[in-house]
Amino acid sequence: MNPWTFLSILFTLSFIFISHAPLPASTINFKLYQVVCIQYSVRVSPNIKGCLAALQSDPRIPSAETYVALSIFIIDQAIKNSTLSQNFLKNLMKTDPSPAIKQCANEDYDGIIKALKNALAIVIHNPQTAINYLRRDLAYAQGKCSGALKDDPKPYFEVNVLIHNLYFYKDVAELSLNHLLDK
Ligand SMILES: *[C@@H]1O[C@H](CO)[C@@H](O)[C@H](O)[C@H]1NC(C)=O
Repeated sequence: MNPWTFLSILFTLSFIFISHAPLPASTINFKLYQVVCIQYSVRVSPNIKGCLAALQSDPRIPSAETYVALSIFIIDQAIKNSTLSQNFLKNLMKTDPSPAIKQCANEDYDGIIKALKNALAIVIHNPQTAINYLRRDLAYAQGKCSGALKDDPKPYFEVNVLIHNLYFYKDVAELSLNHLLDK
């Protein structure tokens, strides 16, 4: 065999080996929302099933192909969820106009929904600012409602559950938005 034939066979073989090299785990084709739920289960709470089920309730989320789209759909779901929570609170207020319920139903949920809408509006142009709206404005309004509920002698179990849902949405939105930041 002349050396050129040998080299060309070697070249061909190496090409075959490279193209068959095992793929790193990160390139396995998870859907983007599955990636976010895996991260959520590792970093925040091990309930991956709950994460997947909650996000799947918006049929657009499993088919999101960019983190911009995913972030927008997640924040949109958070707005819908918070709007329903606010409606619940406004109804509760009719029979129980305690200062805590009034504050949560009006001022605090207005602030929560406004923070989410501000975040939604800036996802494309500045994902870091979107994260800041969630961390600062949303967390502030959420904290004020929680604080008011704590100061009230009644337990308000179901209202605490509503407020608690926001942690989930804030965390998954942030995990999704993180993928848009320059690293
Ligand atoms: C709001 O979100 C939480 C967490 O995903 C979920 O358990 C709850 O059912 C949602 N509420 C409504 C009314 O969709």
